[in-house]
Amino acid sequence: MRPRVLSGMRPTGALHLGHYHGALKNWVRLQDDHDCFYFVADWHALTTHYEDREVIEKTVYDMVIDWLAAGLDPERSTIFIQSRLPEHGELFTLLAMGTPLGWLERVPTYKDQIDKLKDRDLATYGFLGYPLLQAADILIYRANYVPVGEDQASHVELTREVARRFNHLYGRSGGFEAKVAAALARLPKDDQRYYEKQRKTFGETGSAEAWGKGEALIQRAAAAVEGWGSDESELLRGHLRGGGKTILTEPQALHTEVLRLPGLDGSKMSKSYGNAVLMRDEPADVTKKIRGMTTDPARVRRTDPGDPEKCPVWDFHKVYSNDATRDWVVQGCKSAGIGCLDCKQPVIDAVIAEQKPWRERAASFTADPKKVHWIVEMGTERARTVAKATMKDVREAMGLNY
Ligand code: TRP
Ligand code: SF4
Repeated sequence: MRPRVLSGMRPTGALHLGHYHGALKNWVRLQDDHDCFYFVADWHALTTHYEDREVIEKTVYDMVIDWLAAGLDPERSTIFIQSRLPEHGELFTLLAMGTPLGWLERVPTYKDQIDKLKDRDLATYGFLGYPLLQAADILIYRANYVPVGEDQASHVELTREVARRFNHLYGRSGGFEAKVAAALARLPKDDQRYYEKQRKTFGETGSAEAWGKGEALIQRAAAAVEGWGSDESELLRGHLRGGGKTILTEPQALHTEVLRLPGLDGSKMSKSYGNAVLMRDEPADVTKKIRGMTTDPARVRRTDPGDPEKCPVWDFHKVYSNDATRDWVVQGCKSAGIGCLDCKQPVIDAVIAEQKPWRERAASFTADPKKVHWIVEMGTERARTVAKATMKDVREAMGLNY
């Protein structure tokens, strides 16, 4: 089984090159060797933009088209919309019961965002709780990896704490000890003793070696013991750790190296700052936008030398150009041998070339919106199967299985 990846994106407008290079490109790559779940985080968008229903409503399917245009493949990735799966809300509610308020107040994005988005009233219950909603999004699919930017790393950390606490509180319910004993009884006596020894050592010293040996034994049992399933393995793994059964899986953040692409004016690329090149901008607009980009202010006249390190165009060259072109830029900029418009041309060409397959794929979807709806429908149902199975275990563990 391939490890599962889950990530979400808020539907707040058309996607731009910053989204592509900062996240989407990585999502596409992960499809090769992971079981990928990608969703439209429409509830998340409402945590900050609860007054902007039009933007969200208008953007949901457009964003899915941007994803498909970038190369997400519905055969390999499960693509869905958060609000179509009320199970996310149910898990959020259940997790909320035992989550200390301090855990949420201490999430660094909480105070940061309140300071940054001064024009909005974010003193809301939903805004404080949204990292917990994110935890529910992740845990409900038992994701192993979550590709997120630096800014969201603390949310994955919170998710891990929430999972640990849940397993600790509820993982021992339902006759846990008896089930462990029954599973162990199916192993040869020598293995039982060996397992107990590793568990004891791990419990006392936290030895990674003991953990590894115990884990290896569980894997051997899974391969050798007739009728041994993943339930038995999870049971023992929880027991080995000294906790209860693992009901919710602790995910790991996946920080792949991403290339940061600034906006046209050098600040963060964002549609609301009006400094973005959109994934589906027409070539003429791309040309116009990049020709108008901010450059090193020292280059007032064509004959004034400049410094690429002080110029956002250079960041584009880092993403889009090869070594030869970059040498040409450094050399030409510092000696005033080239003008800024000369310098920008290879970037313009590269962006337009990069967009070509996106534009083609997007065209086939905009011409046939039913196809996009169908893809989302399929993904939503696939996601529902997984979410329902998790919720069944969660309800049972919490004693809500009437
Ligand atoms: N909170 C994320 C953002 O604002 C989006 C998101 C919601 C997400 N749920 C998630 C990302 C789960 C990763 C995993 O960008
Ligand atoms: Fe920027 Fe290129 Fe102009 Fe130098 S020549 S200031 S790198 S656009």
